[in-house]
Amino acid sequence: MVKLNRRQFFILTAAGAGTALVASSMWQRGNSSPSPSQQSVDLPRVHQSVDGLLELDLEAKENLVDLGGRQAYLLTYNGQIPAPRLEVKPGDKIRLHFTNKLTQPTNIHYHGLHIPVTGNADNVFLKIEPGDKLTYEFLIPSDHPAGMNWYHPHLHGLVAEQLFGGLAGLFIVRGELDEIPEIKAAKEEFLVLQDFALDGDGRLMGSMHMALMAGREGDAIAVNGAVNPRFDLATGGLLRWRILNASPSRFYRLVLEDHSFYQIAIDGRTLNEPIEVQELLLTPGQRTEVLVKGDKRSGQYRLLNLPYDRGSMGMMGGGMMRGRGMMGRNYGDTPIVLATVNYESAIEPLSLPTKLASVSPLPEPQEVRYFELNHGMNPSVGMAFLINGQPYQGDRLDTTVKLNTIEDWEISNTGVMDHPFHIHGNAFQVVSRNGQPESLLAWRDTVLVPRGETVRIRIPFRDFAGKTVYHCHILDHEDLGMMGNLVIQA
Ligand code: C2O
Ligand code: CU
Ligand code: CU
Repeated sequence: MVKLNRRQFFILTAAGAGTALVASSMWQRGNSSPSPSQQSVDLPRVHQSVDGLLELDLEAKENLVDLGGRQAYLLTYNGQIPAPRLEVKPGDKIRLHFTNKLTQPTNIHYHGLHIPVTGNADNVFLKIEPGDKLTYEFLIPSDHPAGMNWYHPHLHGLVAEQLFGGLAGLFIVRGELDEIPEIKAAKEEFLVLQDFALDGDGRLMGSMHMALMAGREGDAIAVNGAVNPRFDLATGGLLRWRILNASPSRFYRLVLEDHSFYQIAIDGRTLNEPIEVQELLLTPGQRTEVLVKGDKRSGQYRLLNLPYDRGSMGMMGGGMMRGRGMMGRNYGDTPIVLATVNYESAIEPLSLPTKLASVSPLPEPQEVRYFELNHGMNPSVGMAFLINGQPYQGDRLDTTVKLNTIEDWEISNTGVMDHPFHIHGNAFQVVSRNGQPESLLAWRDTVLVPRGETVRIRIPFRDFAGKTVYHCHILDHEDLGMMGNLVIQA
């Protein structure tokens, strides 16, 4: 017997009573029997390093793809949605020959990797013009943690638009976590969650139609480019789900009917031991890894996305919401089916791992800084999203820290919308929320700061000096100014 919280109980009861759950509205037109899509693309879906080197060509271009059985013109890396998965080991060298065949300039950010933020590495200040090429080249440090990271465009002003076009892929570092016997025995699956807004011809809807201030969301949700894909789980077996929220704004609140999740990693970093949770909240940019135990009656169980209210500008009053297609509401009120777990033949029952890693708390900080997230008016663009009262400016240095020091950042959200706060290159630990000490000891690179709340994080700045950024990972907010330049001084 699993204990369900009241909300889940309500949903399951409603579903049992025959209430139709939607797979997501786009799929309803035309596709009465949605099935997982296979993309007719010859290029490999996974690129693994060989003898310490991962070398590949990567091309950003618009491409006609099969998205959940429907033709769609999306922005792709190598023609694929999601982009090919890259897999490396600590100590490996990466050489990525990038070509920009988009009609806009772009670049690549390696979200979650702890690598140089300068040169042709994780440098978000590079600008690759349409038709141009650039070779990204960097080393994965030999002590880099194993985990799930990802890559996506990061040219300020165009980030949300390009990510919403589909440009996102996994960047996996293999290592210790993968070698734990119970994890090794589990069946590994990746879930890349993306949402899209397409018109009747399968073309991306222009931003005029999107609620940019709220953060654009699409009504079509794809998991690995498919609609409601099926994941087989052996009775007695373990499923290892590695989940990425690659949407620019949408939050996912996941439950699996009748099942708990045993969370083993967050944001590319392993937890000390598995934690049993009923529900997973994933803000844009975040990753989570869970084990699912195949210990229920054989059958089919749905992975549901529950509504989440992340606040909206509508609450600020009428004037803000003017504009064509601007919706005050950015969340639905119906659970959506994202995927289905299907039990198959039984195997000898597998057990959960007990010990996973050894995360220890950080020592006291040498410096404490304060950040306020809010919004205001900007004469040129209308709405602006602000950190400490200022919108992003490319040439302003907002925060200068010293390499090899530890800092506490206290981030207060005094606005009316939730903001997931992300720092490039260096993972951190949450110290407290609203003054209450945080009980879960974990590394993260993105933390939700809900409206009206304050979160304090502790960050060690290690190994790499240079200029990089921190920002809200609702990427429309980032493009509209909620970003700061961070200088790490040697
Ligand atoms: Cu996904 Cu600036 O990051
Ligand atoms: Cu990032
Ligand atoms: Cu935000």
